Amino acid sequence: MTQRIIPINSPNFIPDRTPEKPLDWPEILGNSNPLALEIGCGIGHFILEHAIKQPEINFLAIDIYNKGCLKTCAKVDEAGLKNVRVMRVEARWLLEKGLHPESLTAVYINCPDPWPKKRHRGRRLVNQEFLLTLAQFLEPGGSFFFSTDFDNYAEDVAGQISDLTGYRNMLQQDWTYHLPGYPISKYMQRFLDKGQKIYFMHHQRDAAVSRQELPVPAIQRGYRFDWQKVEND
Ligand SMILES: C[S@@+](CC[C@H](N)C(=O)[O-])C[C@H]1O[C@@H](n2cnc3c(N)ncnc32)[C@H](O)[C@@H]1O
Repeated sequence: MTQRIIPINSPNFIPDRTPEKPLDWPEILGNSNPLALEIGCGIGHFILEHAIKQPEINFLAIDIYNKGCLKTCAKVDEAGLKNVRVMRVEARWLLEKGLHPESLTAVYINCPDPWPKKRHRGRRLVNQEFLLTLAQFLEPGGSFFFSTDFDNYAEDVAGQISDLTGYRNMLQQDWTYHLPGYPISKYMQRFLDKGQKIYFMHHQRDAAVSRQELPVPAIQRGYRFDWQKVEND
């Protein structure tokens, strides 16, 4: 699907779509507060609510969807938030190039595209390689929150993450249907309104495992991970 690209002029938008080196977040945000990342922020409901509640945390919201970034910026600008920045960048590109290892206090991925058809499941963003990569960028004790509206995606991620060194499940079970205080996006609410479930997971980067002990990530080129295309869109 081709996106009609509308220029984003928000002061909270970082226009670099293909950063080649880690960005200087203290310089960009004007302080050294911890940095949290939301991957696939959609139109910004989650980040708006979460960032208002935690002014002492800096938030980076990313999406590859231009209109989503535009709407997220509009919400952030209107609320006058100083602790949020938005980038239109592909998640794996940002991780590999735009961030320092162990630099994130939390990562949120809410309802990523579920790719429900069996033949499309290889396109899912969150898989074992992705989780291994993410572990490198979470600070020791940093949180990883994952939610999905699709049972098979929940089962997949729960199965994969439980096998990985470097993550600790913070729940008593693989997932929960209610995480107190966790913002609900409009997208999630649509499922809840229909009586369907959202599966929430919360893991931490195990502080007892050093980065040197983490398995080496091996992100392969995956769906939407076409760097040339990202550049030319
Ligand atoms: C189903 S929507 C959910 C949006 C939002 N998290 C919510 O709960 O309302 C998934 C979002 O992830 C974005 N996305 C998909 N693949 C991505 C990638 N590789 N990197 C960054 N964002 C991605 C899509 O553009 C879309 O906005």
